[in-house]
Amino acid sequence: MPRSLITGVGMYVPPKVVRNDDLRAYFDTSDEWIYSRSGIKERRWVEEPASTAELGYYAAQQALERSGKRPQELDLIVFATLSPDMYFPGSGVLLQHKLGLDTTPALDIRQQCSGFVYGLAVADQFIRTGMYRTILLVGAEIQSTWIDYSPEGRTVGVLFGDGAGAVVIEAAENAHRGILSTHLYSQGAYARELCVAEPSSATRQHILPGSYGMRAYMNGKEVFRHAVQRMGEAVQEALSAQGWQAEEVDLFVLHQANIRIVQAVAEFFGLPMDKFYNNIHKYGNTTAASIPICLTEAWEEGRLQPGSKVILAAFGSGFTWGSVALIW
Ligand code: ACO
Repeated sequence: MPRSLITGVGMYVPPKVVRNDDLRAYFDTSDEWIYSRSGIKERRWVEEPASTAELGYYAAQQALERSGKRPQELDLIVFATLSPDMYFPGSGVLLQHKLGLDTTPALDIRQQCSGFVYGLAVADQFIRTGMYRTILLVGAEIQSTWIDYSPEGRTVGVLFGDGAGAVVIEAAENAHRGILSTHLYSQGAYARELCVAEPSSATRQHILPGSYGMRAYMNGKEVFRHAVQRMGEAVQEALSAQGWQAEEVDLFVLHQANIRIVQAVAEFFGLPMDKFYNNIHKYGNTTAASIPICLTEAWEEGRLQPGSKVILAAFGSGFTWGSVALIW
């Protein structure tokens, strides 16, 4: 059975830097409040109008170039996002067209902060079965346009940023490297603890005068509590599946929602923080883009070498969570 190897990584973030203090133009907040609770110093925001598929396209171009693949060699595009260009169709088909492709299949993944981990699992299954040999997986988000800029929006609004990350995944025969195991979970009982409920197919409210359009709701403390527990479990499951001790893993890449969540997981396993790749201070929470952005920067810094043992884990709205064990 072929293994799935990540052969190229890429990222794109918009040039506009928004520092914590800049957010005081919109919210009653402070750098001290945001940094001490989340580890975020700044994030990137697009200039409008913007397109999630386009951000994904820039990241994809870099990943394709680094893997030495042309778009025409792709068998499948998987696009993970909670902020698609349109209500439907998904951004995957828009990216497919931007890449100059004619009928290459494209699918969207709607698993929010766990989108990239879910996407890797999906891509891995297509490769293991032999159906496809070269897959582009993109995580991209434009979140600055759905932030609620009213005073009530400050808890959620200060956490999120825009950006995109991409990987090219290829089938490799007789490989000792690649994706070893994937572990996925969801728990819809908590769907309303972190959601954007409107626009919704349930009502026509969003087109009525006086409707408020998109507004995110987050029960921050509940999300935090579950995130720490579930990411810890997901990491443990990845370790157990491979018979690895936590200490022998070269790099953990956890979804960048809050540095305190990563610190709690590190503490649980008795590991130093330098085993975890973090860049939340620069980009905030970029949802489906956060792990591929981390992978790109970690690779550029030489922290991912052939043979490196890596564990990825994510938790997010749904609730959804999961992990991946791989050898780079
Ligand atoms: N600036 C200043 N004050 C604020 C802000 C702000 N931006 N936002 C909220 N506050 C105030 C609140 O009004 C509240 O005030 P009150 O006590 O007078 O009512 C107080 O700060 C709340 O502070 P804390 O209780 O200390 O907040 P907490 O420690 O819970 O931190 C946070 C909040 C950062 C949101 C945290 O709960 C968290 O990170 N949760 C997890 C988020 C997460 O992981 N999301 C993951 C997935 S995202 C996805 O899937 C799309």
